[in-house]
Amino acid sequence: MLNKLYADRMALLGGESAFEVLAKAKALEAQGKHIVHFEIGEPDFDTPKNIVEAAKKALDEGYTHYAPSQGYLPLREAIAEYVKKYKNVDADPDEVVVVPGGKPVMYYTFMALVNAGDEVIYPNPGFPIYESLIHFLQAVPVPVDIKEENDFRLDVNELKSKITSRTKLIILNSPANPTGGVLTPEDINAVADAVKGKGIYVLSDEIYERIVYSGNVKSIASIPGMKDWTIILDGFSKAYAMTGWRLGYSITNKELAQKFTALMTNSNSCVATFTQIAGIEALTGPQDAVSEMVAEFKKRRDIIVNGLNSIRGISCKKPEGAFYAFPNITGTGISSKELADFLLNNAGVAALSGESFGSCGEGYLRLSYANSIDNIEIALERIEKALKRL
Ligand SMILES: Cc1ncc(COP(=O)(O)O)c(C=O)c1O
Repeated sequence: MLNKLYADRMALLGGESAFEVLAKAKALEAQGKHIVHFEIGEPDFDTPKNIVEAAKKALDEGYTHYAPSQGYLPLREAIAEYVKKYKNVDADPDEVVVVPGGKPVMYYTFMALVNAGDEVIYPNPGFPIYESLIHFLQAVPVPVDIKEENDFRLDVNELKSKITSRTKLIILNSPANPTGGVLTPEDINAVADAVKGKGIYVLSDEIYERIVYSGNVKSIASIPGMKDWTIILDGFSKAYAMTGWRLGYSITNKELAQKFTALMTNSNSCVATFTQIAGIEALTGPQDAVSEMVAEFKKRRDIIVNGLNSIRGISCKKPEGAFYAFPNITGTGISSKELADFLLNNAGVAALSGESFGSCGEGYLRLSYANSIDNIEIALERIEKALKRL
């Protein structure tokens, strides 16, 4: 009955289990329980001081008014230089749109490109908002299975077999959430070969690009002929520990950048101006904090992966990027959701069920190791003990 109050499309929108589990974990903490948080996907480091100082200075200098919807030009120039350096992509500042976080790039891509009935290929398991937006816009979901035996990399042959004349968009995410899988340059080249000349756009979610443990990530937009057909999604949340600042950007062709700008004008008007000034400092200032954070994540990765592999019923591949472990838990004999609930209630460890990232995530948990080594060790001990009681 009450549902009649809302537009029909609201019933199609999904959510993100990380925020739901965080709420449950907080409720347990309020009852005095100690919880180790592995659910939320954000660096536990503070934003580097030079970036915070730049924001404070910008406030003092009066950067408190509207900025252009597309983004403040000096920031778009800094982003264009940054993507040349880190992604080998030649972008003009006119091809950059500054938005509040990486997520809006997904939303704007769907709003600008996808009609009801269009097919969208996306990773399963994958970031839940991809599937949510596919349903929201009544597009046709075409999942590609991401398998452990393929090191959690997308199987390009499977992807090719799913392309039809109705494919509008393919979503890539490397390094990936929730698996930590990283596509090789050969994978990226093969995807480009599969889509070139077919009028298919690629949304390349590169938000974890800086958090890789060996080698570099290749952007599909760096391949000749692909830039006009790629939407790069990137931002400041993960690389610079700036999740709460809400600062991200897209790189697209100029025409699509204008569509995204129109969507910005119709929704946010602009990103907070002093935040944009701080973004310039993040990109052009010292990068030591990023490498220190990645080195610390690597230590934690090794500890959590080794620890998980020593627990009966669990096996875990070493993730090559991002800060998520995605252990196989089929040996415990219960489902991902049951295990996640069991660990939260019986071991005080908040983790996410792999299946909340798509049906192919069943049999796995996602543990965000953006937490201290001490806490990781406590959690490993608790998981081992609790599983003996299963
Ligand atoms: C794969 C992926 N893309 C995009 C985002 C969104 O990032 P932001 O917080 O900048 O909107 C996240 C956040 O967790 C993510 O995991």
